[in-house]
Amino acid sequence: FWIVDKFWEYEKQRQFIKDAALWIKKGEVVAFPTETVYGLGANALEEAAVKKIFEAKGRPSDNPLIVHIADTSQLSELVEEVPQVAQQLIKHFWPGPLTIILKKKQSVAESVTAGLDTVAVRMPNHPVALELLRDAGVPVAAPSANLSGKPSPTSGEHVYHDLQGRIAAILDGGQTGVGLESTVLDCTKDVPVLYRPGGATITEIEAIVGPIKVDPSLISKEEIPMSPGMKYTHYSPNGSFVLVQDQKKLVRLLAEAKASGKRTGVLTTEENRDKYEADVVVSCGKRDDLRSVANHLYESLRKFDLEEAEIIFSETFPNEELGIAIMNRLEKAAGGQIL
Ligand code: TXA
Ligand code: MG
Repeated sequence: FWIVDKFWEYEKQRQFIKDAALWIKKGEVVAFPTETVYGLGANALEEAAVKKIFEAKGRPSDNPLIVHIADTSQLSELVEEVPQVAQQLIKHFWPGPLTIILKKKQSVAESVTAGLDTVAVRMPNHPVALELLRDAGVPVAAPSANLSGKPSPTSGEHVYHDLQGRIAAILDGGQTGVGLESTVLDCTKDVPVLYRPGGATITEIEAIVGPIKVDPSLISKEEIPMSPGMKYTHYSPNGSFVLVQDQKKLVRLLAEAKASGKRTGVLTTEENRDKYEADVVVSCGKRDDLRSVANHLYESLRKFDLEEAEIIFSETFPNEELGIAIMNRLEKAAGGQIL
């Protein structure tokens, strides 16, 4: 468990990152910080190494991974071609929280793409991640470094909590910035299709390439997601998690749960935190600054487990800009139910 946060001297940090890169070269898995969430990385060109990621996380094998690179020149060993729209997006967003799906080359390990003929690629905007990727010298397949189904980790401690004893090393770079995963966009179609809302917003993407499409499953629960990972329940605290749109209703449901003797929780915001009487009240940020909410969302969800809340009621957020990604994660945590 190596801490590479800024208070360590530079040479020591360099050594930790080099050691982690060595593990990756040897076919082991290593957790590392990115600007979105922590990733659990292995050599994307080595089948046996990638399999270890799925084992460590308990991840279903039909859920493909994102391949991380430090330089666009690495694209040529991963994908057949980079269409013009993808090139524009790469120029504008990389390094950054946009993952692009392209037609894959044979060299990519089979389990990275879960048998699909496409591969998801991104360049993370984090100095530790970029240095690790450069030192490793290979493309690195990495899902979020949580146990499958749990909230993604936004600190080294979260990774340690979930994966200690299951992986070779953790590079601890402190708290991540964005706090939600990257946006996943399929660029193999004529018009790009959004599979997962994330750190890069639809507005930002459309400003570069014009109108995009949205996977119908993001709008209607009846549709099957194009992206395998989006069909799983995810991010859920151990207690039952209920999204409530109306504040009065939330207060009423809370009172009922309390009366029934349950240990209650509320996920709220700075503006509203004094309005609830629950056993565990967690504010995930400021309503008028959705970036702060994204930044603290997963950490907040994890708190309910630490405090052993049995039933948790959560406020909702406007379905626009970053709120789209925030609501997508909250809906997944709630198993799709909004009251
Ligand atoms: O911010 C992030 O993207 C983080 C950091 C570590 O980079 N990674 C991450 O990975 O969130 P993961 O594995 O938790 O989510 C990857 C998502 C899944 O929903 C997966 O199904 C989808 O991307 N995906 C990957 N490859 C795909 C492909 N070829 N076609 C469709 N969906 C794909
Ligand atoms: Mg994940």
